[in-house]
Amino acid sequence: MQQPRLFSDPQVASFAEGRFLDGDASEIEVLDPATGAVLARVRGIQGATAARAAEANGVAARAMRALPVDRRVALVRALGAGVRADRDRLAAILTAESGKPIVESRGEVEYAATFFDNAAAAAEMAAGDMPAARAADRRVVVLREPVGATFAITPWNFPLAMVARKLAPALAAGCSQAVKPSEETPLTALAFAEIFARTADAVGAPRGAFSVVVGDAATIARAFIEHPATRKLTFTGSTEVGRILAAQCAPRLMRTALELGGNAPLIVFGDADLDRAVEQAMLTKFRFMGQTCISANRFLLEAGIAGDFLARLEARMRALAVGDPRDERTRVGPLVNDAAIAKVERHVADAVARGARVRLGGARVKVAGCADRFFAPTILENCTPSMDCAREETFGPVVAAMTFASEREAVELANASPSGLAGYVMTQDADRLWRVAEALDCGVVGANDGAPSAAEAPFGGRKDSGFGREGGAHGLDAYVDLKYISLRVRHD
Ligand code: SIN
Repeated sequence: MQQPRLFSDPQVASFAEGRFLDGDASEIEVLDPATGAVLARVRGIQGATAARAAEANGVAARAMRALPVDRRVALVRALGAGVRADRDRLAAILTAESGKPIVESRGEVEYAATFFDNAAAAAEMAAGDMPAARAADRRVVVLREPVGATFAITPWNFPLAMVARKLAPALAAGCSQAVKPSEETPLTALAFAEIFARTADAVGAPRGAFSVVVGDAATIARAFIEHPATRKLTFTGSTEVGRILAAQCAPRLMRTALELGGNAPLIVFGDADLDRAVEQAMLTKFRFMGQTCISANRFLLEAGIAGDFLARLEARMRALAVGDPRDERTRVGPLVNDAAIAKVERHVADAVARGARVRLGGARVKVAGCADRFFAPTILENCTPSMDCAREETFGPVVAAMTFASEREAVELANASPSGLAGYVMTQDADRLWRVAEALDCGVVGANDGAPSAAEAPFGGRKDSGFGREGGAHGLDAYVDLKYISLRVRHD
């Protein structure tokens, strides 16, 4: 199968200060998860270079603030169009470095473009306000000002969409943003930087308003967080790293948005339309083979329908094509790296040792010509809340099923997790749908919906899943600082 052209200049390591930079730190090998082959060697940047990039990010923030709203909107809209126009190249790079099936990678490119559409529309409609004053001689005017220079750390599971989710509202609000992509998947962000540079030039926006800084995560994060120009950190990744970053931001009282791991429950009641519930379960469980933070991790099934539901789900899972992610037919590709597949194996082994039954799969699958990183779509029955697959996010193609007897028990099981990102409820009883959706202690609820992510929705979690919202009009607010001007009006 044809390898994608990665980006124009394979020497390029980062994009900062409005130009592509050669790296000055050690090389990062970017691997193809499907074959294990080295796709590219990207030289990272050192702390001093990252500090210079943080300075430039601050300079660009001042230029963005001065840019009229119509020009910001034009930039953001044109970025969405640019991403769509380059869909096939971006999708090929994304698949090569993440192992995401190519059909899904194209979907991710479109998903990314919608964040630009949405942020542009939100910026056009954004307005300050003027609350009714209590005193006759006072006028209060509330202004919306850009937060300034922002720093984003993005994950490997959505190498383009998570950049778009953070960058689009930042630019639309008049901020700059430097992105540190995951070391696993820096190539998509660098390819996007080419689109950004062209688009900024065409629209007359500052090129320095977006940077991609590649290198050692701790070094780069420290350089940006400690730099006085940086006014906000937004991070998507693990709870463990989120805690470290929050502690680093605390001395500067820096604004933070943390979208951390999940452990989503999917509740299926006996009154659900089972075919529809299976359809939606497939969407949440097999989007990127379960390697998403909002993927259903714990399947909570009402005892009377558990067997029927699992039989229907099993039939659908058996039909999933496991294979090379570049193949149009593939729905299950490789897991991202050896640690990911080792974690899935650990969860299955722990569940089996504690009494779960493997109904389907349960082991690696060999794919001709590929590395040993493919895991079979798997169903574990008779799981319990104390098993690793129920306590931790598996991040793989594993359904961990357990049963419940009442609505109350379902909600208790669902909420018995320190995570609170997403939850799903499947029922045809409208009252129950509302009751359970409101009782779930998380930021996103899929109510008869296995794909609740959308650019217009305020995405984010609570508890150990972090705080802050990204997407929708609320996403724009995350990059806005309110200021009010109080005015005295003389009436004599
Ligand atoms: C994730 O963070 O893994 C999910 C992102 C999304 O659904 O947009």
